[in-house]
Amino acid sequence: MKLTLERAKELNDAQVTQEHLVLHAKNVMYAMGAMADYFGEDREHWMAIGYLHDYDYEKYPDEHLQHTEKELLAQGVDEADVRAILSHGWGICSDVKPETNLEKSLFTVDELTGIIQACARMRPHGITDLELKSFMKKFKDKKFAAKCDRSLIQSGCEMLGMEVSKAAEICIEGMKPFAADIGLLGTE
Ligand SMILES: [Fe+2]
Repeated sequence: MKLTLERAKELNDAQVTQEHLVLHAKNVMYAMGAMADYFGEDREHWMAIGYLHDYDYEKYPDEHLQHTEKELLAQGVDEADVRAILSHGWGICSDVKPETNLEKSLFTVDELTGIIQACARMRPHGITDLELKSFMKKFKDKKFAAKCDRSLIQSGCEMLGMEVSKAAEICIEGMKPFAADIGLLGTE
């Protein structure tokens, strides 16, 4: 059975407790929901994968994704879903290459949502009035949120056959309705 959001939350919440990591899981979850809508795919399923994607990171930050495959299979998660999760670390801490649109989207939005979050956090109204144009300015400014790897996002978008600005637009608009849940209502 495909991973449900309920099950993803059960599994992740049992292991991931740090607030910034929970927020990251939610950011990726909403961005994946928006990407699923764009591709006409199963929104809940993509959100579930997004929520669970960093399952082992809090416990094993230096061995990220090495404690995911066996553990999730033992919890009854489908092989295809485990594969999707492993592929988000392709070239960094995994040799599973993203092949499907779900996998390519996860690979891309993991990093992309980091810049969106950083950008929205500095604004009085957070993500709620963040426009694509201002986001792209920050994206092109390499000194802004310097830890977010633009080249990863670019290669993810190339795999998807999508401009970075398109992926950013989908994610920003997809995250906006959930601004309160992801702590991005702004500084005011
Ligand atoms: Fe992540």
